[in-house]
Order: sequence, then C-alpha cells, then structure tokens
Amino acid sequence: MTDALGPELLLELPGWGSRGRALEEALRSAIRGGRLVAGTRLPSSRDLASQLGLSRGTVTQAYEQLVAEGWLTARQGSGTRVAAGTAEAPVRSGRSAGSAEAASGRFDLRPGRPDAYAFPREAWARAMRHVLREAPTEVFGFGDPRGRIELRTALASYLGRTRGVRVDPANLIVCSGYTQALGLLAEVFTELGVRTAGMEDPAIGDHVRLLAGRLRVAAVPVDAAGLRVDALRDSGAEVAVCTPAHQFPLGVSMAPERRSELLEWADDNLGWIVEDDYDGEFRYDRHPIAALQSRRPSRIVYAGSTSKTIGPAVRLGWIACPPLLLEPLTEAKRRARETRPLEQLALARMIELGDYDRHLRTMRRGYQRRRDTLVAAVRSGLPDVRVRGIDAGLHALLELPSAPSERAVVEAARAASVDVHPLGEYMRGDRDRHPPSLVVGYATPPAHSYPAALDALIRGLRRL
Ligand SMILES: Cc1ncc(COP(=O)(O)O)c(C=O)c1O
Repeated sequence: MTDALGPELLLELPGWGSRGRALEEALRSAIRGGRLVAGTRLPSSRDLASQLGLSRGTVTQAYEQLVAEGWLTARQGSGTRVAAGTAEAPVRSGRSAGSAEAASGRFDLRPGRPDAYAFPREAWARAMRHVLREAPTEVFGFGDPRGRIELRTALASYLGRTRGVRVDPANLIVCSGYTQALGLLAEVFTELGVRTAGMEDPAIGDHVRLLAGRLRVAAVPVDAAGLRVDALRDSGAEVAVCTPAHQFPLGVSMAPERRSELLEWADDNLGWIVEDDYDGEFRYDRHPIAALQSRRPSRIVYAGSTSKTIGPAVRLGWIACPPLLLEPLTEAKRRARETRPLEQLALARMIELGDYDRHLRTMRRGYQRRRDTLVAAVRSGLPDVRVRGIDAGLHALLELPSAPSERAVVEAARAASVDVHPLGEYMRGDRDRHPPSLVVGYATPPAHSYPAALDALIRGLRRL
C-alpha cells in the first residue's frame, strides 16, 4: 500500500525478465485491450514505483518509451495519460481479436505528413522559453520582411553545412513554408515578364494551381533520371520548378547528367530553376547529394521548409535568393507580411544548440526503420509489387503492374481501412506513362499502430 494521493493502477507484472520491459508490456497490453482508455491519467512515476516496488527510474523510462511510441502523452500540469486512438477495435463477430482496424477506424498512409508524435516538444519548449525571456523588445514589433537575422544567419550556415547551399544571410528570405515561397515566386516572375513555368508532372496539385493562378504552367514529364529537360526545352518555359533530391511523388533522384542538362538549359535560356528541397534531410542508404543550387546560385531559387523536419504546425520556410531576385522577392514578402518572428528565433536557437541536428538524426533513424519494415512487408506479402523511390524521404511508390486500375487499388486499401493516394492524383498529362501505383507515406501512423497499418494495407491489396 502507498499513501499516494494520485490515481491508482492495478497492474500485474510477469515474475520474470527485465522489470522495465515487463512494465512497458503490461501497460501496452492494458491500453491495447481497452482496459486503460484514452485520457486516463496514470499515477506519477514516484507513486507507481512505490505501488509496484520498482525504482522510480524504471517507471520513468517505461513512461518515456511509451510516450515515444505514442501510447501515452506527457504534459506538464496534466501528468501522464493514455493517448487517443490506441485501443484495438472491439472484437466483432467474424473478426479476430488481432484485427488490424484501429479503434479510430482508419490507418493514414497518405504521403506528405511527418510523424506528429515525434514533434520535439522539449527542445521546442526550451527554445521558446529562452526566446520569450531573452528576446530584445524590438522582436515584438515590425521586423525585416526577410525575417530575423538570427535565423537567416543560422540557416545560411546550416544549409551550407548539410545541403551544400551557397547563400549569404542577406539573400535568405524566411517565409511561411514552401507554399508561400512558391506563391511569392509566382508574383515576382509575373512582374518580371515570365509567361510560362515548366513544372514536373507528376506534382502536388495545390502547387500547380498556385502557379497557374498567374502563369501558364507546362507539364514536364519525369522519367527514371528526373525531370525531362528535352521536354522542358520544347515547352518554351522560362522557369523550371522541380524536386531534384527526391522527386515528389515518384521518389527518383535527379541523375548527374540530367542535373548538368538542366543547368545548361538555364544558362542557354537565362531560365530560372526553383529547387524544392522539401525532404532533402532524409536520405538513407547513400550520402546526401548536394542541392543543385550549389552549382548555379545565380539562377537557382532554393527553397526548404520545416514541414517535414519538425512539423506543419511550425511551417517555417526559406528561400535562398539569386541576387537578381532579392529585391522583388523581399518586396513581395513585405506585402505578404513577416512570418512569425518568435518561432523564427526558436528555430535559430534549436539550430545553434545542435537540437535541430539531433532531432533530425533521431527522425532519420526512425523513418529508415519504418521504410525497411514497409519494404520487407511488401516483398513478403505482395511479391508482384515493386517498391520505388525509397532512398530518401517519407514516402514510397508501390507499383502494381497487374492491378486492374488505380481506382480498384485505392478502393481495396480503403475497404481495409487504409487511406492512401493513387499516383494519378498527382498527374496532369498522359496517365499511362506509369503503371497503376500508390504513393504511400510511411511516417504518419504512430509507432504502435504502424505494423497493423501495413498489415491492413497488404491484406487489402492481396484481395485484388
Ligand atoms: C513536394 C513538397 N514540397 C514542399 C512541401 C512543403 O510545403 P510547406 O512548407 O508549405 O508545408 C511539401 C510538403 O510538406 C511537399 O510534399
């Protein structure tokens, strides 16, 4: 018995093995089975340690592990609680207790989303606290439309170090994610008399529409070596918008000859290249390839974002600006208003303290493990399916050459409670260029439901 005032918890640990592991497993199983429901507050580590006769460190470590896996949440002031959507679906007739359908009903394997459970709460909170305590008063007023110099300085050095980008802090513009960067670029290119932008096909529909609001947008096909520069030349485009590190959504990385060809196109035509480096930080099997920008900083607008690295909730983006575009882009950003200066300072602080690098290292390891699990599951469960684009990023392309149609594949996945996107959703031109394919994001399901999500996907597709 304890004299603790907090909640009590009935938990039986098996009498063998590591106490920490046993505690983790007992908690997982109580949550999975629905005995501990979402929102339930658990005893403090001190109380539970004393109830179970364990050391406090053992309980703290078990709680931390389960928070990292998404079973629990930990907030200052409200304690450790059972996370939402963690229980398995109740057993229904005709279904086994191991049914992969989560209590929330669906598994999200759509691309473009990072693991929200892995948001670096502690590092972000530390950086924010520091900013609020230490920031000079002028931070709370109007600032430089290009963004805080602290972040631009930190980014210039970080991007040079990790992506080979050559930029002076004065030529960086901080904005609200890549999407705003593209909108500002569309404005500025129009002002400069550009009429046609060549954009990769496939690409994100929202990005295409954003440009199409101001410019003619030519669909430039992508093959196994990346954007087809011959087609770009034929299109008469004056701007090329592309994702050289990891094409979205095909996942190919632009081949060296293609990179050189694209630079030649820019030189021959005084063309601009917009390099969307949306997930360049996540490369797994080989060394990262330096950003294309490093080879022609005068013609390439390099853009990046925290949407994949930290999360869309922060959505800070940056543009490394060729000198000729700096003035009009700064003016466009001034009209659009400055992007959240306090968050900018927090990110600068995270980069300076090494917290951003540490976070990325952890995420890279976790995503690589998830990718390996996906590849292994598909190889053993769906031997006819080819998995493409897995060297980098947070998504893979599953090609199903023998499937009747993409629609049938998406429906089969949906019937198994899995949300995925068909490749066709991103295509504008000839859809027959690629076999029926799914674009599968592997970052989103929390760690505890990821195996079940893959299991559901594979069972769904096997029914085809
Ligand atoms: C191809 C591509 N570009 C850019 C981004 C980032 O956009 P934003 O910074 O506006 O969230 C994403 C999504 O994260 C993406 O998938």
